[in-house]
Amino acid sequence: MNGVVLELDHAQSADREQFQRAVLAGLSRRPRAIPARFLYDARGSALFDEICKLPEYYLTGTETDILRAHAGEIASFAGPNCALIEFGSGSSVKSRLLLDAMDLAVYAPIDISREHLDGSMARLRRDYPSLAIEPICDDYMALADLPPLPASSRRLGFFPGSSIGNLEPHEAIAFLGKAKQLLGPRGALVLGADLKKDPARLHAAYNDSAGVTAAFTLNLLRRMNRELGATFDLDAFAHEAFYNPVDGRIEIYFRSLAEQSVTVAGRSFAFVEGERVHTEYSYKYDIPQLETLGRTAGLQVTRIWTDPDRLFAVVYLASA
Ligand code: TRP
Repeated sequence: MNGVVLELDHAQSADREQFQRAVLAGLSRRPRAIPARFLYDARGSALFDEICKLPEYYLTGTETDILRAHAGEIASFAGPNCALIEFGSGSSVKSRLLLDAMDLAVYAPIDISREHLDGSMARLRRDYPSLAIEPICDDYMALADLPPLPASSRRLGFFPGSSIGNLEPHEAIAFLGKAKQLLGPRGALVLGADLKKDPARLHAAYNDSAGVTAAFTLNLLRRMNRELGATFDLDAFAHEAFYNPVDGRIEIYFRSLAEQSVTVAGRSFAFVEGERVHTEYSYKYDIPQLETLGRTAGLQVTRIWTDPDRLFAVVYLASA
């Protein structure tokens, strides 16, 4: 028992150290930026789950509808006896649509959060008692190889949620190249991507009227206060998100509402009024751009599923 507690403490302090290093580095350079993955502590993950249920945040519902409508066709594209490998499985909600439709040899969810992975594995093992599950707790961008999976089965990757859009284009290509390598010569990837559309619609998705997205962004300041002994005044900063049509991306920041100085881990940082700290991009693609992205990484779009309003696309990428 003591051993387990110690191990958790150790992992926690390693996480905190990493967080502190990233924050101090991110606030010391210009433009200021803090990596998006730190948004997802326990409260941040819960707020993100709330975002996914917001009426303005059409992405989750639209993608789920597409997957539900076409899971059978995805299954027949992939064929029987596949190994389904999910990159960033979170709570594995969308994966269930594929688990239900496919005849799988094994499901291998990859997630960086041990907590998320353990929780969703317990629920999956209960609901799919005969499914072989091989959870992998790791950063999928850093993964050198997959554990041994049944050799004869095709590896089908799954990367939903428009997470591809949270990568810069060069990182997105690197990710797709990595996925291609991990999935092997007969591999394929099912990718969900948010499409370019009316900027007002995009703007609303990241500026919901209930303020959940603002709370999600400002939760990062709370986390810094709690874990790094920072002195952010949550009323003196605001969430800011807007569509940049030139780069085709939503840009997300927190912005200082006044000239002020904040202490983080014993170091002082001055903010001028209006100064922003970047937290995340969400790139929006059109179909030709997705095809180009895939091609650059050696993958070919062989099928596109979308909704009637063409808000979101699920594409099947095969190793070219
Ligand atoms: N993958 C999500 C997206 O790009 C992530 C996200 C949604 C997000 N809402 C956000 C990230 C608000 C930061 C802030 O849509």
